[in-house]
Amino acid sequence: MSETPDNASTEAPGRTPTRPLSALPDERGRFGEYGGVFVPETLISALRELNEVYLKVREDRQFWDRLSGLLRSYVGRPTSLFKAEGLTRQARERTGSRDRGATIWLKREDLAHTGAHKINNTMGQGLLTRKMGKRRIIAETGAGQHGVASATAAAALGLECDVYMGSEDVRRQRLNVVRMKMLGARVIPVDSGSRTLKDATNEAMRDWMGSVEHTHYILGSVVGPHPFPMIVRDFQSIIGREAKAQCLRHLGALPNAVVACVGGGSNAAGIFSAFIDDEEVKLFGVEAGGRSSEAGEHAAPLTLGAPGVLHGSRSYVLQDEAGQTSPVHSVSAGLDYPGVGPEHAHWKDAGRVTYSSVTDRQALDAFLLCARSEGIIPALETAHALADALRIASEMDREEHLVVCLSGRGDKDVEEVDRLVGDQIEPLKARRPRVRDKKRKKKSSAPEPSAPEGSASETPATGDQTGTPTESGEA
Ligand SMILES: Cc1ncc(COP(=O)(O)O)c(C=O)c1O
Repeated sequence: MSETPDNASTEAPGRTPTRPLSALPDERGRFGEYGGVFVPETLISALRELNEVYLKVREDRQFWDRLSGLLRSYVGRPTSLFKAEGLTRQARERTGSRDRGATIWLKREDLAHTGAHKINNTMGQGLLTRKMGKRRIIAETGAGQHGVASATAAAALGLECDVYMGSEDVRRQRLNVVRMKMLGARVIPVDSGSRTLKDATNEAMRDWMGSVEHTHYILGSVVGPHPFPMIVRDFQSIIGREAKAQCLRHLGALPNAVVACVGGGSNAAGIFSAFIDDEEVKLFGVEAGGRSSEAGEHAAPLTLGAPGVLHGSRSYVLQDEAGQTSPVHSVSAGLDYPGVGPEHAHWKDAGRVTYSSVTDRQALDAFLLCARSEGIIPALETAHALADALRIASEMDREEHLVVCLSGRGDKDVEEVDRLVGDQIEPLKARRPRVRDKKRKKKSSAPEPSAPEGSASETPATGDQTGTPTESGEA
């Protein structure tokens, strides 16, 4: 399938009557003027079948009970909501005021099986594959996390799995390539174009056109033709539903702000969707600002792109004046993509979500800051969200609360970060004890054991928040 398939379109974009944001997409798969189905004829019947099966599955209690069971016992949900005292302190130090600097909380998707949010979607779509009687899945992957999550779902559910991955990403996410192989998947390197996520997606779509009878394409983000953006969002909405319940339980209120990184946009859509109708909760999506805002130097379609068609749907796309997709760059393989999910395009135009971008350098700094102040090595994708969360928290009041979606862990990135900035990393020095601690020590003659300053206090999530979209009526 071509990257700018306007001439292969089977539908023209058009406006739909205004609906509440949570009630989209409409029957044609539109989020306002975005979304839709822009694919060659060969895929239309497969997408129709997928839509029909999914609409039935949405009402199928047994399906959601099975998925909830797997998410609980296999994936390890609910993931915790963690009070990040080290990062909160960092944000407060930037304010220069005693009244400023919100408390930062981390929604720990890095603790889910395989180390990222991607598994929520692949377990759901894996069960859907079985429901359709298909026996093979294919996937595209950038950071390798969706590839690993697809290979894992395939192994757990008895499916065959082929994963397309740009050869540049094969190089920089080597650990995940080995993991996929161990899990029984075939990794197919893609050498065309920029050898990254866009090119892997092209190849996966090409495979699907010839194999659709027995193969399901597990798209890894809220992109692609309808019904994929809706299906992936619904499976990822577990993140937001859990986070909302955890905030209500631990804070007794909704958070004031929620921040997530945006590649295709699935972890962001997953966490935002639970809060989208709660206007008092500010939502922030963070894209990859790369090296600069020059064309080809970043991967920030919502911040710097324009509406267009890519990979089967209409959304914001990085493109040149002739409508050709632009090359992209990001230090993070999972954000290195010229398009973004159509629902994000609609949220942007509706003014509901604020989108911004942070540079490679800012993300690398946040990566190390999180590792050192929390003892959590985040994925480079996630580090983009953390970088902007620190800025946003520092502009908020002290009694306010900000939740960041910690979309994944950074084991896959340590070699690349070491290559890029390893020589600049100094060992961490012990922090000076706080004045308060000094005074206490003076009073007492006996030395008392103390936790390291800034050691994080966890507020674990308890209970089962794995309700289904059908049950909660949110999907
Ligand atoms: C840990 C992690 N976070 C975020 C992303 C970006 O994807 P999305 O925007 O769909 O959440 C990826 C993509 O691979 C990822 O691995």
